[in-house]
Order: sequence, then structure tokens, then C-alpha cells
Amino acid sequence: MEKVLSGIRPTGHLHLGNYFGAVKSFVKMQNEYDCYFFIADWHSLTTCPSPENIRQSVRTILAEYLACGLEPDKATLYVQSDVRETLEIYLYFNMNTYLGELERVTTFKEKARKQPDNVNAGLLTYPTLMAADILQHRAHWVPVGKDQEQNMEMARKCARRFNNIYKVEFFPEPQNFYFSDKALKVPGLDGSGKMGKSDGNCIYLYDEDSVIRKKVMKALTDNGPQAPNSEKPEIIQNLFTFLQICSSKETYDYFDEQWNNCTIRYGELKKQIAEDLCKTVAPIRERIREFSSNDELLEKISRQGAEKARESAAATLREMRQIIGFNPELR
Ligand code: TRP
Repeated sequence: MEKVLSGIRPTGHLHLGNYFGAVKSFVKMQNEYDCYFFIADWHSLTTCPSPENIRQSVRTILAEYLACGLEPDKATLYVQSDVRETLEIYLYFNMNTYLGELERVTTFKEKARKQPDNVNAGLLTYPTLMAADILQHRAHWVPVGKDQEQNMEMARKCARRFNNIYKVEFFPEPQNFYFSDKALKVPGLDGSGKMGKSDGNCIYLYDEDSVIRKKVMKALTDNGPQAPNSEKPEIIQNLFTFLQICSSKETYDYFDEQWNNCTIRYGELKKQIAEDLCKTVAPIRERIREFSSNDELLEKISRQGAEKARESAAATLREMRQIIGFNPELR
């Protein structure tokens, strides 16, 4: 079975945009591929979070992904810092990566601009750590957004270069996996395009029904259709996108017809959206609550995942050491 790997940065909470844009697809993929999903807590050190902050955000993100339907018996779910094998692989990739290549990565340049007082080596070598994340499992597919394409290019370069230097065909070149049409782009609630750009335009998976209703009712609208069968302006199209995501086809058609014959009442439309969004979010929210209040279970799941991930990484590392000319026996 082909391997899929994705790293999740432990920042913030999951919102509907994450859910429909990626997590729902992960949940499907765990039945079709050998999946590795990990929480990238080492990567988060580039911004120096506090210990309490790290602990809390790792627990949160794990609970939220589980609540969405990732299953530890299907996919390998682990915390990056539990797999120390990654670090040795990271070192080997750093030895074969040029300073100039790393300095040219746009995410590095952006982050360096954002935190000019803390342009640390970890920030510079973010792509080689990411390459180690991926290549330690010799993964074939990595679901990534546009912003990660350059990092993926670096990961392929690490794979190719290792193979070339040692004249082996050890690492497969990991490919970007695009959800493309299967994933839905969830709009923001404030007309600013994508959900997730700011707090104000997000519905979080932990949001209570009352919060969801309030947020939806506040969504921007206009003065209504000026002529029958006119094109929908973006903010109205956004509301219809929500219907597409969470409501039945009948509901969508009902409001679409009302738009077309200019009888639409936005209050009614928003109420419908709010109710249907609540129906989607409520069961997830309940499961988030259950998982978050069960430290023992979270602990057990991450330990189980770490064991599987370490086994896979250790096998890669053993062979790498042998190829490089070191003693392959680690223990
Ligand atoms: N760089 C990714 C991000 O910013 C997170 C990440 C770290 C990752 N390691 C990875 C993603 C390995 C895919 C594969 O979102």
C-alpha cells in the first residue's frame, strides 16, 4: 500500500475550512493508504512557545483530529518529538543541503521578515526537517497546500541527492497530493475569501450552537437581487456555498429559486445555514469534548502512534547508516 504523510502544525483550533478543506479527506484516505499523520511540535519551536503552550496545543490538535474521525487503528497518528530517529536523518540531510538553497526558500524569507530578532538556524533548516519527516517513512504522497510546494521541492532534492551521492535507489521522490476538486473551499464569514484568514471569519469545530448562529447571522449580505435570474455577488455566493457544504440539495434549490425570482429573505437563508452547520459541527464538538477530557486515552494513542512511527523511521535510519558507512546497529 502506498504511504501518505502529513504534518500538522499545532497552531490554534480546527475550523470548518480545515475540516472540509483537508481533514475530511484525511479521514477518507486512512482507508485507502498507509497513512502517517503527525503533529509538528519540533517545527513549532522556531517561534519559541512556552512548555505549557506546547503541551496544550499538541493535546488540542490531537483531540480535534480524532474527533473528526482519524482512527489510530487505521492511520499512524503521532507526535513529531516522540520519534527521535527523525533528528539523525535531519542531520544527514543538512550535510547535503547548501546554505544558498535554504536561504532562497520563500517561507524562510517571509518568516525572517516577520521575526527579524530571531532568525534562527531552525527556521533556515525547516525544509530539511520537513524532508526528514517525510523521507523517514519513505512516503509517496504528501497532501500539501500551495504554500508548501517549495518545501516539497526541497524534500525531493534531499531524496535525489542522497540517492545520487551514494549511488542507490533508496528514497522515492515524494509527490504533492492535491485534493483538488474533492476538497471544498470554505469561504469566510466576513466576505474576505477563505475561512481561516482571521478569527472573525471562522467557525470553529468547538463552537457552541449559539456561537455558530451568532456568527452566521452576522455574515455580510447586500440589498438583495435587483433583477430575476441575476448573477450572485461574491458575498451571496459564499452563503450559497455554505448551503452546498452542509445542506440538502432540496434546501439549496429552494433558496436558489427564491434568489432567481427575487423573493429571497436573507434572514431565513442564514437561519437555515446556521441550523445545518450546527448539525455538522455538534457531533464533532461533542467528540472533541470527550477526547480532550481523556488525557489517558490521548496519551495511549500518541504512544501507540509513536511506536509505529519509530519502527518505520528506525528501519530507514538503519539502512541510511549502512549506506553512509556507519555501523547500522543502533541498539
Ligand atoms: N510545513 C508544514 C506546514 O507549515 C507542516 C509540516 C511539517 C509538514 N513537516 C511536514 C507537512 C511534513 C507535510 C509533511 O503546514
